[in-house]
Amino acid sequence: MEIIQCKDYNEASKVAGEILSNAILAKPNIVLGLATGSSPIGIYNTLINDYKNHKISFKDVKTYNLDEYVGLDRDCPQSYYYFMNEHLFDHIDIKKENVHIPYADPSQLEESCKKYSEQLEKTTVDIQLLGIGANGHIGFNEPKTSFDQKTFIVHLTEKTREDNKRFFNSLDEVPTKAITMGIKEIMNAKKIVLIATGKNKAEAMKKLLSGEITTDFPASILHKHKDVVVVTDEEALSLVKSL
Ligand code: GLP
Repeated sequence: MEIIQCKDYNEASKVAGEILSNAILAKPNIVLGLATGSSPIGIYNTLINDYKNHKISFKDVKTYNLDEYVGLDRDCPQSYYYFMNEHLFDHIDIKKENVHIPYADPSQLEESCKKYSEQLEKTTVDIQLLGIGANGHIGFNEPKTSFDQKTFIVHLTEKTREDNKRFFNSLDEVPTKAITMGIKEIMNAKKIVLIATGKNKAEAMKKLLSGEITTDFPASILHKHKDVVVVTDEEALSLVKSL
């Protein structure tokens, strides 16, 4: 696991954004695994700038997103579908048919998971972008999820709903379930770039960098992947004694 220590969120967004941007330049038909949350927004801004400055094009890029809430329509501003359009896809030349965002039809939950898993089986993600939840979740794989898990419906923990309530009017509005790519599918990516910045990620970084691998802290499985880059900042590393 390679750790890149940046000063702050802006620098981390630039550094991680450049990793993706250079990879697109090197392989124009790259397959990217994408994430939502506050962490990747700066990375997406870096990519949008590189597109607008004619450095990169997304016309042959394919994307697969990590997760989506169950029960939110795609035009709902809190859905991850809406988020991706707002923060990335509406600003670049990606083709709609190359974008894959899981969707769980509430009346066909199992079928929806199977469908996304089958799509993932047919492809190889070149670079998977990840954020990290305060409890170590990646995608929406909450603590105790099996490392062999494929796409499934997760019951969100109260901690995660509480952390994500800032995007909603109240905690009651935060969905209780989500569809998420499983840990096994995340680990299938050739390369993983995880971004973690700010004080509220300090505990998570301390646990991640302790090196202990346990389902109590899902991100810890990343130590078993051969090509992981963690882009982080001073605040997120404030509880880590030495790298
Ligand atoms: C959500 C997403 C995760 C994300 C996490 C952290 O739970 N499902 O993919 O990593 O939030 O979000 P943030 O980057 O806003 O701290």
